[in-house]
Amino acid sequence: MASKTNGKVVVITGASSGIGAATAEALAKGGANLVLGARRLDKLQAVAARVTDLGGQAQVMACDVGSRDQVQALMALAQSRFGRVDVAIANAGFGFAGRVHEITEEQMEEIWRVNLLGTWYLMAAAGPLMLKQRQGHIIAVSSVVARRGLPGMGPYCMTKAGQLSLVEAMRVELRGSGVYVSSVHPGYTQTEFFQQASRRSGSPVRGGGKIQSAQVVARKIRSLIEHPRPELWPMKMLRWAMLLTAMMPGLSDAAIAKTMRPRGRRSCD
Ligand SMILES: NC(=O)c1ccc[n+]([C@@H]2O[C@H](COP(=O)([O-])OP(=O)(O)OC[C@H]3O[C@@H](n4cnc5c(N)ncnc54)[C@H](OP(=O)(O)O)[C@@H]3O)[C@@H](O)[C@H]2O)c1
Repeated sequence: MASKTNGKVVVITGASSGIGAATAEALAKGGANLVLGARRLDKLQAVAARVTDLGGQAQVMACDVGSRDQVQALMALAQSRFGRVDVAIANAGFGFAGRVHEITEEQMEEIWRVNLLGTWYLMAAAGPLMLKQRQGHIIAVSSVVARRGLPGMGPYCMTKAGQLSLVEAMRVELRGSGVYVSSVHPGYTQTEFFQQASRRSGSPVRGGGKIQSAQVVARKIRSLIEHPRPELWPMKMLRWAMLLTAMMPGLSDAAIAKTMRPRGRRSCD
């Protein structure tokens, strides 16, 4: 039976490593046509070569999602090469550790620009195009921390919560139009994320709890594209844990304070 992603045109930001690269490969196996963006062109080209080996097609473009022009150019590349965009995945993002009152304005502005504004740039470019097509799927790769701020990771959690708010709003705004909007909430996933976060923070940043591979998350993103739904939580238990924290914020504060210290073991996923 032909895959439901066969022939779909999918734009992915942050596709040079981790979840973005694994998603490109998972979709390539189903015969998707991919348009991949990130800053490191050499890494993107390596992902594109794997996509081709797996039976898909890939176009790559150096794209810093902190620039609206570059995000629009990525979408324009998809349109000019394939004539439409079926799925747009805002996946690019990074984290760093720092207490809310100690981080710099530059750090705050950068994470806001890349993780949140970068997501919105893609949504804003995809929205009108998909409305015109009368079909499409916009996906933002958020995190479990979208539902609960964690000590030492406030700015990162803020951007993940912000992505979820944009997704929730846009999903209802476009209801009935043929354009679907979803969020993805991975837990601790084995990627370059923590290495990059440690480099930015100047001290080790580690995830917490059970770890999953980027390939597992990618397969679930493929199933989200095949069967659109509002939210994807690759580790289902974490969804319930986050709902409990929302219902009992005081108790949650106490539990989190016991297990995480902002200046000691840092966790961000
Ligand atoms: N790993 C986890 O435990 C985890 C858990 C929950 C959510 N997430 C989320 O999953 C997404 C993917 O992260 P990952 O875990 O796969 O980490 P990763 O391996 O570090 O991948 C991050 C990707 O984002 C790209 N990126 C970073 N800044 C960018 C910018 N300014 N413009 C364009 N691309 C940029 C990177 O490419 P270049 O450096 O080449 O630009 C890279 O391809 C992120 O949004 C992250 O917040 C991760």
